[in-house]
Amino acid sequence: MADKGWCKEAFSEGYSSGAILGPLNPEDPEARMRMFEDKRIGGSLSEFFLSGVAPLLKPHDKVLELGPGRGSWTRALASVITEGEIHTMDLQDIRPWVQDLIETAGQRLFIHQVAVNENEYAFLPDRYFDAFFSFGVLCHMDLEIIEDLLVHLRPKLKKGCVCIAQYSDWKKAVRYCMDPEAYAYNREGYEILEKDYAFELDLLRSRRWYQRLRPLWKRYILRAYPQSKVPPERSFWVKMNQKDMQKLLIRAGYEVLDIDMDYFRRDPVALFRPLH
Ligand SMILES: C[S@@+](CC[C@H](N)C(=O)[O-])C[C@H]1O[C@@H](n2cnc3c(N)ncnc32)[C@H](O)[C@@H]1O
Repeated sequence: MADKGWCKEAFSEGYSSGAILGPLNPEDPEARMRMFEDKRIGGSLSEFFLSGVAPLLKPHDKVLELGPGRGSWTRALASVITEGEIHTMDLQDIRPWVQDLIETAGQRLFIHQVAVNENEYAFLPDRYFDAFFSFGVLCHMDLEIIEDLLVHLRPKLKKGCVCIAQYSDWKKAVRYCMDPEAYAYNREGYEILEKDYAFELDLLRSRRWYQRLRPLWKRYILRAYPQSKVPPERSFWVKMNQKDMQKLLIRAGYEVLDIDMDYFRRDPVALFRPLH
């Protein structure tokens, strides 16, 4: 289900994680969006960028961002990459959504729209990028598509290139979403599990008595379902786990520096670099 065609269709209106940097002013819709995303993922996007990502980048770096959507992270990256280049690669034409960036960082910004059947990336120079960044993309992709993508992108990255990519982990997501507040913010995602987890979702909904059983329930579900039982072709979210990601990265020719930078309660973010 979550092949590239699905991703192109599903995100055709553009996806925004809000304004990653800047004050959390509730009057500002982009700030409100970030507050919502923070709740959904269980952590601060801003803190992740400022203490996890920015210190690994240098102003003159050449950065490749996969799946920028409406450019939330591109804007944050542009605040650090003041002398280098940012290349974005998306299935969508993101130009209408990032006009502000085109005006302010036009010389440093290279927007690539890729076709659904693109998998060679010949338009990108070889051994060129100092950093690779992706958020909200791998979490929707099937394992074999992620592996194929990372294998083909590796020749484009310099030796030692810093790679940072958010992905999904079933156990981590389930553990987080057992909390009623987290579940409320992730309801949409969990409702797709309705068919396969009808009983479990009923339990989640009957909050009053369920509250007391939550620790038991968490243990049960993680033991009974160490992996999602939704087949990949019917699921667009939480298709992965940290062990599979670790193996996939190694197979694709990368050294894993940290399989989870541990900024978010729902999703892991991997830090890795290519082994040329
Ligand atoms: C959920 S949005 C995330 C947008 C942004 N990164 C954020 O976090 O706000 C996913 C984006 O990745 C793009 N995308 C998904 N698969 C892709 C692929 N294989 N190659 C390029 N872009 C892809 C989609 O078109 C969409 O714009």
